Amino acid sequence: MKEQLKNVAISAQQALESVKDQQELEALRVRFLGKKGELTAILKQMGSLSPEERPVIGQLANETRAQIEAVIAEKSAQFKSATASEKLRKETIDVTMPGSKKAMGKKHPLNLVLDEIKEIFLGMGFDVAEGPEVELDYYNFEALNIPKDHPARDTQDTFYITDNILLRTQTSPVQVRTMEKQKPPIRVISPGRVFRSDAVDATHSPVFHQIEGLVVDKGVTMGDLKGTLADFAKRLYGEDAVVRFRPHHFPFTEPSAEMDTMCFNCGGKGCRLCKGEGWIEILGCGMVHPKVLANCGIDPEEYSGFAFGMGLERLVMRRFNIDDLRLFYENDQRFLDQF
Ligand code: DAH
Repeated sequence: MKEQLKNVAISAQQALESVKDQQELEALRVRFLGKKGELTAILKQMGSLSPEERPVIGQLANETRAQIEAVIAEKSAQFKSATASEKLRKETIDVTMPGSKKAMGKKHPLNLVLDEIKEIFLGMGFDVAEGPEVELDYYNFEALNIPKDHPARDTQDTFYITDNILLRTQTSPVQVRTMEKQKPPIRVISPGRVFRSDAVDATHSPVFHQIEGLVVDKGVTMGDLKGTLADFAKRLYGEDAVVRFRPHHFPFTEPSAEMDTMCFNCGGKGCRLCKGEGWIEILGCGMVHPKVLANCGIDPEEYSGFAFGMGLERLVMRRFNIDDLRLFYENDQRFLDQF
């Protein structure tokens, strides 16, 4: 039995030397020291020994067990400290590494200028009104004094959905919807998307944006229109902005006009930006046609009003000297980053 114990001690020593991890170590502990382990198997034969041999072998067995236990404890400690330092190594933070910068989003140039325009009109006491993009023919044309055979319909190549339903070609239908819902005094602007079946090029897009304006009250005059819009131009382009009004025609206003600003690039002398004109067209406007007021249930004998409409893209293009409208919709990061 002495021989057997010695052999167990040797094979345990050898096996433990090449153990690679905590799991293997546990397997070896079971193999040598477990209830069905090799050492236990030897001790089970103790009964066959003589009373003199028993304490000698017993002591030897205890020593062997203690020896094996000591090696296991030592190995286990080694593994534990190796795992701990591996964990520390993995979690090390290199504070000298450059930080990763989060890219900040920016406002789209169309929204940048739209927000400015909204702010100007809100400051003048206007509200913001909205209307549907899919609109009835009635609101887009009929109620605005543009009957079925009116030539103005040809200039606005309309996307029809049915005979009566279309994609709005202008934000003017919001005027009608507002006047139907709200009694004067009315002061609203209505920005939004509009649609025309135009082929895409540097100055045309089937989807673009307009900002509509409407003021209705007792005693509103052309003087109020001119004052309000000239003031708007100053707030948008600066105190020395000069404007002029040219007679024009719109079916829903009478009289109608277009407002130009003196070219802020050449100061009226004529340049590439204003195409040699010295003036740049900003918006269409006029006194709301009595028929339009009446269509909306507002008595034109009692009330009068003015309206205006401008294209957002064109304003923004001039503002930032952008010569291709498509840039607004392509969302090229290099373009957007410039604003
Ligand atoms: N709706 C017109 C257009 O699309 C713009 C316009 C002109 C709107 C005069 C108005 C206005 O409200 O009074 O060309």
